[in-house]
Amino acid sequence: MNIQFDSTNLLQDMVGGQGVSRAEVREHAAEAIGALRAFRKASEEGRYGFPHLPFQSQAANEMLRFAGTVRGSYDAVCLVGIGGSALGAWAIDCALRGPHPVQPEFTKRNPRLVILDNVDPALVTAALDSMNPKRTLVVVIAKSGATAETVATFLIVREWMRKRLGGRAKERIVAVTSSGKGDLAALAGQEQYRTFDIPSNVGGRFSVLSPVGMLPAALTGVDIRKILQGACDMTHLCWQEDFERNVALRSALHHFLLWKLRNKPIQVAFPYSNLLWGTAFWFRQLWAESLGKTRTRAGETVHTGQTPVAALGTTDQHSQVQLYMEGPNDKVITFWAVGKHRPEGRIPKARLGLEAFDYLAGQSLARLLDAERSATAAALTEAQRPNCTFTLERVDAANLGAFLQMLEFQTAFMGELLNINAFDQPGVELGKQFTFGLMGRAGFESFRERFDAYEEKRKRLE
Ligand code: PA5
Repeated sequence: MNIQFDSTNLLQDMVGGQGVSRAEVREHAAEAIGALRAFRKASEEGRYGFPHLPFQSQAANEMLRFAGTVRGSYDAVCLVGIGGSALGAWAIDCALRGPHPVQPEFTKRNPRLVILDNVDPALVTAALDSMNPKRTLVVVIAKSGATAETVATFLIVREWMRKRLGGRAKERIVAVTSSGKGDLAALAGQEQYRTFDIPSNVGGRFSVLSPVGMLPAALTGVDIRKILQGACDMTHLCWQEDFERNVALRSALHHFLLWKLRNKPIQVAFPYSNLLWGTAFWFRQLWAESLGKTRTRAGETVHTGQTPVAALGTTDQHSQVQLYMEGPNDKVITFWAVGKHRPEGRIPKARLGLEAFDYLAGQSLARLLDAERSATAAALTEAQRPNCTFTLERVDAANLGAFLQMLEFQTAFMGELLNINAFDQPGVELGKQFTFGLMGRAGFESFRERFDAYEEKRKRLE
């Protein structure tokens, strides 16, 4: 496992006044170490659980054992969940089983992962039409056990299973939720679903290495032990106080300084890899929900947050890069590079006697992809646009596990630097409560009233 962070193009030496100076980085390094210590203390006290997840081998063994008992009886795993209960599984599936939508043929040995993370009836209906309930394993995931989207979709999927399988449907449904808490756990108890627990100190967007991400991965044949091993190795690196060697801490501080001292409220996560495209969406949620907060821990109103944007190289060079080059200089561009692409995508050697074709003959797509990223970094640097690069040695289970864990640590460290709670999401909860009120859930009448008052005001102003 090897993940590097190159911050050179964030420096003033490269991008002039838009960058940070080496002296500024040195000056604030102690603050970063303070952030690490504060987070480590909270983690050791058991307040935050994600750093411990990769070491929970008993949980991994249980998932693998279960996967072993059901393997071969399904050709689709249907995941019902949303947000942190879906994005990690998507990131892993995309990185380790082939980029969407061009994965190898699906069979019972290589089942399809179908993720129902929206209540768009077009998606849910098409997904169900594309699967056979007799050859489907349903995994319903919700930490709260009550998210309206997940519950509504699950009711439809459960009915679809019961119509074809009757009483045996329960054998094909697995619930991942907080054990003994919430209505999903209650239903799982009543209907005797196999359940897996989400530890109470692990929030949705930090739960990819819990059964939330690991169970769907194990059920689709991914080697979760390797993912967890990479994440274990990264955890040790993330706890070290050697600032230069701690990739998560160094990148958190650089992004913090760029944002706070050079006014870069947007971060573009820019993977040059279709395999990492799902991870970019997973990261987008992690960064946005963790850091977008009204108040500091001291109660000061700050309305802080760095807006994460996901862009794909090279595709978005032909869509977004014009803006990044010449638009407002309000972004830090964070490239995600891959050291070794396998396969390389050899371009045929034959020459056609045409200039636009022949210089590429005999080269590889991997080389072109890399050249395009280096060229974009050079052009951005020339235009004084700060940019930096994470490089994963390759996209495999160990490096992916390490990268996911590194990004979680980076987010936690950033939360400490900002003195905010990176682990709650009151804004998301408020939206959920309004939805409950609107859809008539008992106990949420006051949210219905607030909504009606808002609607009335709108009508008056129309
Ligand atoms: O990160 C979070 O906490 C959220 O994005 C949740 O994952 C999301 O709202 C889904 O919640 P639940 O798992 O309770 O359905």
